[in-house]
Amino acid sequence: MPAVTRVCCIGAGYVGGPTCAVIALKCPHIKVTIVDLNQSRIDAWNSPNYNLPIYEPGLEDVVRQARDRNLFFTTDIDRSIQEADLIFVSVNTPTKKSGVGAGFAADLNYVESATRRIAKVATSNKIVVEKSTVPCRTAESMRTILEANSRPNCRFDILSNPEFLAEGTAINDLFKPDRVLIGSLQTPEGITASNALVEIYANWIPKERILTVGLWSSELSKLAANAMLAQRISSVNALSAICEATGANIDEVAHAVGYDSRIGPRFLRASVGFGGSCFQKDILNLVYLSESLHLPEVAEYWKQVVVMNEYQKRRFSKTVVDTLFNTITGKRIAVLGFAFKADTGDTRESAAITLVRDFLLEKAHVSIYDPQVEHTQIWTDLSDALPLVPLHNLQKQVDIASSAFDCCKNAEAVVIATEWREFREIDWEAVYRGMNKPAFVFDGRLLVDAQKLRSIGFKVTVIGRGERF
Ligand code: NAD
Ligand code: UDX
Repeated sequence: MPAVTRVCCIGAGYVGGPTCAVIALKCPHIKVTIVDLNQSRIDAWNSPNYNLPIYEPGLEDVVRQARDRNLFFTTDIDRSIQEADLIFVSVNTPTKKSGVGAGFAADLNYVESATRRIAKVATSNKIVVEKSTVPCRTAESMRTILEANSRPNCRFDILSNPEFLAEGTAINDLFKPDRVLIGSLQTPEGITASNALVEIYANWIPKERILTVGLWSSELSKLAANAMLAQRISSVNALSAICEATGANIDEVAHAVGYDSRIGPRFLRASVGFGGSCFQKDILNLVYLSESLHLPEVAEYWKQVVVMNEYQKRRFSKTVVDTLFNTITGKRIAVLGFAFKADTGDTRESAAITLVRDFLLEKAHVSIYDPQVEHTQIWTDLSDALPLVPLHNLQKQVDIASSAFDCCKNAEAVVIATEWREFREIDWEAVYRGMNKPAFVFDGRLLVDAQKLRSIGFKVTVIGRGERF
């Protein structure tokens, strides 16, 4: 098989955009075209002032170097498919909202329509790469669709190449991944296709970090990695509840536990609950897969990771209400951070949405500040979370501040929902002066120096710490 010289990526989102921009940067001999149905997203990728559709540290620099050199963004999907030797399918795979498997199974509609489009328009052989996170054996369905709908003499080899980048560190993760995983059928054709993809990554990634495995193992490994990462967070969050009840300190417990080289220190940070577009969706997907395979105990085991995460969010909002003398009606609550983690403007499944919703249901007045999230996104998320409340009513109960300081003015309580670095540098004395008294701080991200805040006069509650006020 000749080396790949033209790559198409279907889906210009959080994964397709950064991943294929980095491929273009590192492989100047390959023409990379990223396509999407969404014109405004493509326009943003092409914007002359680099007003890109996603915020990701380092991304702009990559796009500046490669765009219009060998990196292109377009809605001309058909032409890009026809030109390409290798096509990444990097479309969204959200949890199904209705029908069989609703609430658990992945909605593969976008994967299927991208696959059908490839089958319909391709006029030459293609390597089709699943980049989206999909249930085990999705490649088989893709093959069936491609083979049933393609022109004669068009051959398709399907690979699985799940993406392990995390938002906020995507560029670094793509430059120096722990590993790249490529799954293929273990046939001579499958292995040849796999080698063609290995050669692309080998332009900047040491070969020993490029793992080649069977198709089904590759698909399942992605779900497994996310489930195991999320499981660590739910485990530490479950322990944080015990810490609060006993007077132990979750930082100290996590430190002591993580010092064991068999366990390791990462992903043991107690929080108000994990968010993001992947963890919950992928675990629910694994639960559904386990149930479909008649493995109810396995399904129940993984489901508990999500149950614990929901419990953690509720537990935190209940602590706020309980601490503010069992009512927050009419009280002003300042929520610092709305993104699901620092260094991203993404709010998908952000714990902050659940917290704000709970506060609004208690009839509080909520002010929100996030350094990256678009205001329109906040309104969309709150409207989705409270579908029965008209937007103009929401806007009476919520305001969006332009700084952390403004957000906290006249508030009874400050709730830290996202671990943005700038929240570490807040002038707490000035914030204290501007707040109603007693002034409460609820730290859901282990971010503040609780003793220092207490010395100023705040009443401080930190997740996973027994001592209060
Ligand atoms: P996203 O919603 O940001 O982007 C998906 C894009 O695909 C959208 O812009 C959408 O318009 C486009 N699209 C959908 N159907 C299309 C079609 N038929 N033709 C052309 N364009 C189409 O999603 P994302 O966050 O980039 O995630 C993509 C996949 O990668 C998902 O399966 C996700 O689980 C997986 N993943 C995401 C992350 C992450 O951090 N976001 C990390 C690893 C893996
Ligand atoms: C995750 C996986 O890390 C990544 O490999 C996969 O490709 C996509 O899903 P992402 O969701 O972007 O990445 O961010 P991640 O850093 O994993 O954080 C997910 C959530 O867990 C965030 O809300 C974060 O704040 C939370 N978290 C993370 C904790 O609460 N504690 C931790 O110790 C780590």
